[in-house]
Amino acid sequence: MRVAIIGSGPAGFYAAEALLKRTDVEIHVDMFERLPTPYGLVRGGVAPDHQNIKAVTRVYEKTAARPTFRFMGNVCLGRDLTVEDLRQHYHQIVYAVGNEADRRLAIPGEGIPRCTPATVFIGWYNGHPDYRHAKIDLSVSRVAVVGNGNVAIDAARILLRTPAELEKTDIAAHALEALRNSWVREVFVLGRRGPEQASFTPPELRELGEMEDAEPVIDPGELAGCAFAEATDHSQQEKNLKILQSFSMLHSGAKTKKLHLRFLVSPTEVIAGADGKVVGLALEKNRLEIQPDGTVIARGTGEMEILEVGMVLPAIGFSVERIAGIPYDEKAGVIANEDGRVVDPISRSVIANEYVVGWARTGPQGLIGSHKAASAHVVEYMMADGAELALRKLPEREAIVTLLRKRGLKIVFFDDWKRLDDVEVARGERRDAPRDKIVDVEAMLAVLAQH
Ligand SMILES: Cc1cc2nc3c(=O)[nH]c(=O)nc-3n(C[C@H](O)[C@H](O)[C@H](O)COP(=O)(O)OP(=O)(O)OC[C@H]3O[C@@H](n4cnc5c(N)ncnc54)[C@H](O)[C@@H]3O)c2cc1C
Ligand SMILES: NC(=O)c1ccc[n+]([C@@H]2O[C@H](COP(=O)([O-])OP(=O)(O)OC[C@H]3O[C@@H](n4cnc5c(N)ncnc54)[C@H](OP(=O)(O)O)[C@@H]3O)[C@@H](O)[C@H]2O)c1
Repeated sequence: MRVAIIGSGPAGFYAAEALLKRTDVEIHVDMFERLPTPYGLVRGGVAPDHQNIKAVTRVYEKTAARPTFRFMGNVCLGRDLTVEDLRQHYHQIVYAVGNEADRRLAIPGEGIPRCTPATVFIGWYNGHPDYRHAKIDLSVSRVAVVGNGNVAIDAARILLRTPAELEKTDIAAHALEALRNSWVREVFVLGRRGPEQASFTPPELRELGEMEDAEPVIDPGELAGCAFAEATDHSQQEKNLKILQSFSMLHSGAKTKKLHLRFLVSPTEVIAGADGKVVGLALEKNRLEIQPDGTVIARGTGEMEILEVGMVLPAIGFSVERIAGIPYDEKAGVIANEDGRVVDPISRSVIANEYVVGWARTGPQGLIGSHKAASAHVVEYMMADGAELALRKLPEREAIVTLLRKRGLKIVFFDDWKRLDDVEVARGERRDAPRDKIVDVEAMLAVLAQH
């Protein structure tokens, strides 16, 4: 049986692993990736100071080494290849394209210079080719990061780390240079709901207290009214509250940079100065309201303040990027699906032999490890649906390569990526870093042409 997987992030690789481990049917997997480099957000999202997390790619390398697996990078579905091409060449298709679009605040002033979505900032410091040329102007002393999730924490932490902390990581060289010259001294992380509703995970929150020259600041008043139960409850919420409480008791002042954690505020306008760039963020104070179904929502009180900041980074989530020929669920911002089987968004009828895994299926929630079981679950459906499929005659396996080459594409196979990998690792040795990324697709292809 022949399967195409689109996207080489964790969800795609775990789907490949589950397929290739089957002993009941021989499966050949071709994985298409729009970049010349594999691993999705593990390379382009996970923070550079979290190298231990990036080590998960060793597991994916093992999958890639299987003889029935083929990686084809620098091939973008919707640009170089159509869904119809895939239907002709494969028995089944798995979309693992992640969530590459930003959610918007939808307030006046969003989009003015120095109001930059988290995706752009994160892609920029991680050397994602799409954001190589992003204009990140760090000649400001105060920055607001909107959102109370781990992405907000990542963005704030990277803004406040010292150059010495960053240079030993795989942060992109252009970002390291800009951060060396950064004027940023204070970052405000803003939650629209309270500390109890924040979605930070405790290890990531705790890490804010471990930066070399920056410390978390929280007004004890922000925690008034939060329930501090005895240490018997080990929930994320309970752990977060205890960490926040410990931060609120810090009075060291020994570190020069500050990370302020503020709650119950919603941005209502990004304010521009005379030069058109951000000079402030208008905030409305919120109160919490419990809905009949038990959910807790933020409700504006009408009380306003202006937070003087020179840059705003909304980190409020992501949604799926549209690709022609794939049905979307407008409301959920994902590929339309029923538990991983792609469906027509209106009739909800199943589109046979097309599947979706990872964030493209669920939206932007869940850590890397969560995709292993989730992708394997979808593979069970594929096997249940696919019993008769191997009988359908397909063009020979090389036909897709011939088609792509006819279209003038330079396919980057896994061996090519390994050569790029070696070059990046060797470049990294100069600054004692795990790698120095090549951040430009053309430059990657030029390196491959030479080596
Ligand atoms: C900033 C950030 C930091 C994170 N840090 C951590 C962390 O420290 N620990 C943790 O456990 N989790 C972390 N996560 C969560 C984790 O990265 C996600 O759970 C996971 O990457 C989602 O996997 P995915 O395969 O669905 O999507 P992705 O990892 O986004 O992979 C999607 C892939 O599809 C490719 N693609 C998209 N469109 C096309 C197309 N048209 N044609 C071909 N290819 C295409 C993309 O280039 C990409 O390689 C982080 C997330 C973010 C945003
Ligand atoms: N180091 C790590 O382990 C790591 C790093 C990064 C990301 N991740 C994972 O990746 C996933 C995505 O992370 P994320 O931080 O993007 O998502 P998230 O945890 O869902 O956080 C999004 C935040 O944005 C807020 N928000 C949404 N719309 C808003 C609006 N209009 N105005 C103000 N605030 C708004 C949300 O508030 P409400 O709660 O009120 O909706 C929430 O606080 C998560 O599973 C996360 O754990 C992990």
